[in-house]
Amino acid sequence: MIRPAEVIQRKRDGAELAPDELAELVLAYARGEVPDYQLAAFCMAVYFRGLSDAETFALTDAMVRSGETIDLGARIGRRVVDKHSTGGVGDKTTLAVGPLVAACGVPFGKMSGRGLGHTGGTLDKLESIPGFRVELTTDELVAQVREIGLAIVGQTADLVPADKKLYALRDVTATVDQVSLIAASIMSKKIAAGADAIVLDVKVGDGAFMKTLDEARTLAEAMRELGRRAGRDVVCVLTDMDQPLGRAVGNALEVREALATLRGEGPADFSELVLDASAHLLALSDLGVDRVEARRRAEQAVADGSAVAAFERWVRAQGGDPDPEALPKAPLIREVLAPRDGYVARLAALPIGLAALHLGAGRRTKEDPIDHSVGVVCHRKRGDAVEHGETLAEIHARDEETAREAADAVLAAYELADEPPAARPIVLDTLA
Ligand code: URA
Repeated sequence: MIRPAEVIQRKRDGAELAPDELAELVLAYARGEVPDYQLAAFCMAVYFRGLSDAETFALTDAMVRSGETIDLGARIGRRVVDKHSTGGVGDKTTLAVGPLVAACGVPFGKMSGRGLGHTGGTLDKLESIPGFRVELTTDELVAQVREIGLAIVGQTADLVPADKKLYALRDVTATVDQVSLIAASIMSKKIAAGADAIVLDVKVGDGAFMKTLDEARTLAEAMRELGRRAGRDVVCVLTDMDQPLGRAVGNALEVREALATLRGEGPADFSELVLDASAHLLALSDLGVDRVEARRRAEQAVADGSAVAAFERWVRAQGGDPDPEALPKAPLIREVLAPRDGYVARLAALPIGLAALHLGAGRRTKEDPIDHSVGVVCHRKRGDAVEHGETLAEIHARDEETAREAADAVLAAYELADEPPAARPIVLDTLA
């Protein structure tokens, strides 16, 4: 048996740990045999000293082994693809990519998470759909993917329990934003859930964990290396999170926008990301198509209505009402008006995410209830021309007071200038 204090000390002093002792530490922690305070000290040592590639893999592998694993591909009899985002503001990509990929004949079974802090979670967005059930058993997940090609569910308690414990600990010990710990956290869940190929959307900017392109590239490389060691194909797209993705931020508002995008009526940046990520997933699947053909098929599924049909089939299968009119609406809508003529030089993602959170769209603690109807719709985004008095954004609120606070915060997130800013594409880089 390892002595945790000695392992912590050696990491603190910059030593490289043996894979077995790292695995033993994490597995003993998951079993409740090592206390939180020792793992907290260990995470802080890792924060300052980092982990080598071999250590990061040993950590990931131990986390996978801490619980059950699902061989989704073998149970469905197909090569299974998955996607994951490192988290951002207005990121409803999974809600559109899932149906689009399924409409193109590729099975998509995904476990998603909830939002915490200023970033939203796919499960919370799905629960804004009346009747939608996110808690399926593994057997129900497999059966639904087999029958209708698509299921998006909450992570079962048995999948990577070490990550659940460790993530909660990191969240309160200022050790979330460490590359190896993020990479191990994300990849352990993807590997345990059985994906053969994974598209990782690494967000870059003020609304993301990774603030610069260099940091995002380092994280992307670490996750690709973990995928290589585990025998999985990993493609990383590095995408802009300096402004919210699309226009809508807030649960029901984002479901509406995802559905509009599947109809071909979505905002340009979000539509482009959905098509790009879907094309990567189709090209990694067992369809045997290249990226160009994959993109053509994804565009076709939007144009011919099959993507919307897949969305409706999927939502009904999980007990939900796919009619956008059934989504909850906030009682109050307040407009944020442009104080001058000009161009939107900047629309900061973080304050928009926080404004939505304070309106009630997110949680301040894990137990907080969510108001699915509230949020922010940014009608003008970076580069858009605006005239004095025109609507920049809409606040969807439950009362006057929260609406007023959000309106002030949203207005402060906009920077207007005489000249348009340099163009910045949604996909900043791709590591394939
Ligand atoms: N998302 C995760 O699942 N884990 C992290 O550590 C960070 C983002």
